[in-house]
Amino acid sequence: MKPVVELKGLSKTIKNKKIIDNLSLSLYPGQITGFLGPNGAGKTTTIRMMVGLMKQTGGDIVIDGVSLRENFEEGLSKVGVIVENPEMYKFMSGYKNLLHFARMHNGVTKERIDEVVRQVGMQNRIHEKVGSYSLGMRQRLGLAQALLHNPKFLILDEPTNGLDPAGIREFRQYLRKIAEAEGVSVFVSSHMLSEIELMCDRIAIIQNGKLIDIREMSETRESFYYIEATPTEKAKQLLVDGGFTVDTLNGGLLVNAEQHQIPGLVESFIAEGLEVYAVQPHKKTLEDEFLEMTGGGQIAEAYSK
Ligand SMILES: Nc1ncnc2c1ncn2[C@@H]1O[C@H](COP(=O)(O)OP(=O)(O)O)[C@@H](O)[C@H]1O
Ligand SMILES: [Mg+2]
Repeated sequence: MKPVVELKGLSKTIKNKKIIDNLSLSLYPGQITGFLGPNGAGKTTTIRMMVGLMKQTGGDIVIDGVSLRENFEEGLSKVGVIVENPEMYKFMSGYKNLLHFARMHNGVTKERIDEVVRQVGMQNRIHEKVGSYSLGMRQRLGLAQALLHNPKFLILDEPTNGLDPAGIREFRQYLRKIAEAEGVSVFVSSHMLSEIELMCDRIAIIQNGKLIDIREMSETRESFYYIEATPTEKAKQLLVDGGFTVDTLNGGLLVNAEQHQIPGLVESFIAEGLEVYAVQPHKKTLEDEFLEMTGGGQIAEAYSK
């Protein structure tokens, strides 16, 4: 599949401080890619460069084959953006706001306006004044506005900040439908792992301006078992001798074993005179993995916010 957007060795230095460090990333049609990182990691800075609000110090951004370095306006014309809370005229209806924005682009038809209104589920309220909308509805109107000109690529910077759980859920569902229906590539930033996990097909993780991992949500995770057997030290030694990786957890052992290895393990424990009290699959969450990957501190702090 051809990427819609390519970040190529993107860098930003402000006052001798490297804010973004050689960041490369490709985004694909129909996919939602999450941009996850703690506050201050460099998400907004990256996005500001991608939408032309800030100039990069090094590297390039290529949108649908067009280099922003070489052909800035043409490249940007393919992007739909919600960088922060979308600015709307509160005294006008949602529909009038969309009409207003539609005039800024060539060739946005009335049919297209109706279509985006349907896609964000605003049919029933679109003729009411924006001032009467909830934050969630305003965010969805912002989404409709960003979609008006059929962008290939949608960028959202922490779109669910301030939404309540129901609003977040609704927003997520609309975003999913839209990525599928329109085939757009969506890039959405967040400091909340739980949210990104539910919303995205892929996650790019940024920390201190560096991309530290990209992974598909469908990637199978390593399989772990929680084992309690006494004496624990002896059990641990047997496992280590057998080539397993072993951690201690709540007085028991956490072992990176596959299901088919379990009967053999239990047999060898019994043969060695160990007493086995528990053997159960242990699902490592994405959170566990990120905490390991990032050395514990930063994502955890952001996660709890
Ligand atoms: N205009 C600026 N001048 C100086 N430092 C900045 C500027 N913009 C952002 N930064 C710094 O760059 C880092 C990344 O910020 P930002 O991109 O806003 O992170 P995020 O959106 O991931 O929370 C932070 O340390 C921030 O203080
Ligand atoms: Mg930010």
